[in-house]
Amino acid sequence: MVRETVFQGGSGSGDEPPRRPPGGSPPGGPPPGSPPPGQPFNPDDDQFDEALRPKHLEQVIGQAKVVERIQVMLDATRKRGDTLGHLLLDGPPGIGKTTLATVIPRELGVELQIAAGPALSAPKDLLPYLTNASPGSVLFIDEIHRLPAAVEEFLYPAMEDFRIDIALGDGLNARTINMQLKPFTVIGATTRAGMLTAPMRDRFVYREHLDFYEVEDLVEIIRRNAVKLRTTITDTAAFEIARRSQGTPRKANNLLLRTRDVATLRDDKGEITTEVAAEALEMLEIDTFGLERQDRRYLETLMDIFGGGPAGLQAIAHSMSVPPDTLEDDIEPFLLRSGLIQRTPRGRVATDAAYRHVGRTPPRTPGNADDSDDEPPQKKLF
Ligand SMILES: Nc1ncnc2c1ncn2[C@@H]1O[C@H](COP(=O)(O)OP(=O)(O)O)[C@@H](O)[C@H]1O
Ligand SMILES: [Mg+2]
Repeated sequence: MVRETVFQGGSGSGDEPPRRPPGGSPPGGPPPGSPPPGQPFNPDDDQFDEALRPKHLEQVIGQAKVVERIQVMLDATRKRGDTLGHLLLDGPPGIGKTTLATVIPRELGVELQIAAGPALSAPKDLLPYLTNASPGSVLFIDEIHRLPAAVEEFLYPAMEDFRIDIALGDGLNARTINMQLKPFTVIGATTRAGMLTAPMRDRFVYREHLDFYEVEDLVEIIRRNAVKLRTTITDTAAFEIARRSQGTPRKANNLLLRTRDVATLRDDKGEITTEVAAEALEMLEIDTFGLERQDRRYLETLMDIFGGGPAGLQAIAHSMSVPPDTLEDDIEPFLLRSGLIQRTPRGRVATDAAYRHVGRTPPRTPGNADDSDDEPPQKKLF
């Protein structure tokens, strides 16, 4: 069992005076394994996701409404000298959930512990996180929809009353002891808000949904990260990468890194020119819509094998030899959002826009008609 205390709030940034946790410093300081504070950024590091991650709320680009509401939560919590209410963040992968979950404790100057739903298989796995939670600290539980029921139930009183009930012995000797915890905050992240049980969802005072980003926000993220990577990029190149990033910062960062590789080879100064970006995107087989090979394979499978649908997720997944969860988490959200597929009670359907996108004529079949023929394509991102 790994308990990962990531950093002590206030340290590690160097650009802001450290703030004290509201309840005083926890004894012992950060445990071994914490990254040294103020570690310089190494552009050749593999941990780009970490390196490019905003450290403070003001560096978080886009999601203006969400950021504004979080700012209010933080200011009010600080002003009251209180513990932040539990916060649930949901949205597709790579959209900034972990980023916000790490920014918030840093802003509050409190400790952060990170746990992942699938790794918490029994209440005892959660126990050290709860008992180690310092006053006002944040426990980030990623993929919280994948917590087993027993762990979830163990978490309820901890979230509600900062108390845990531990069952000791069994049979006639069975008894329950209660243990009081320090007030702390759970930040839960999920790609599937719909899979969360109602009692779990109800334990969160704050719930925020992160949606796909506008192209202008991604352009800004790419520009800033190019500076962090000590490379230069033309405006057109930044725009080209942004509009093909499926509204997702993580994809924008990955494309930036891949184009930078091409730039290193092609350009004397390693500048990401418009030509370099075009070459890289072509090499990566990212089309003008931002679809990757796997996305197009999904659409082609739906059209070729299932006649455009409706087709069940399991059936599509089976045909593609891809786990259904991967399709539902990584591939479908953007296709849905951009109006290329629709989810109907009978299964997934490829829309006319999808046919046109892969260069085919939309079939005028009854299977397609009731679901998509009469509807205008949904709002396109790009
Ligand atoms: N609002 C944002 N502003 C700037 N960069 C962002 C933003 N959201 C995400 N990123 C970048 O995208 C990467 C992936 O985001 P992350 O928070 O890990 O996504 P999630 O946890 O939702 O899968 C981060 O490392 C960060 O570099
Ligand atoms: Mg994450």
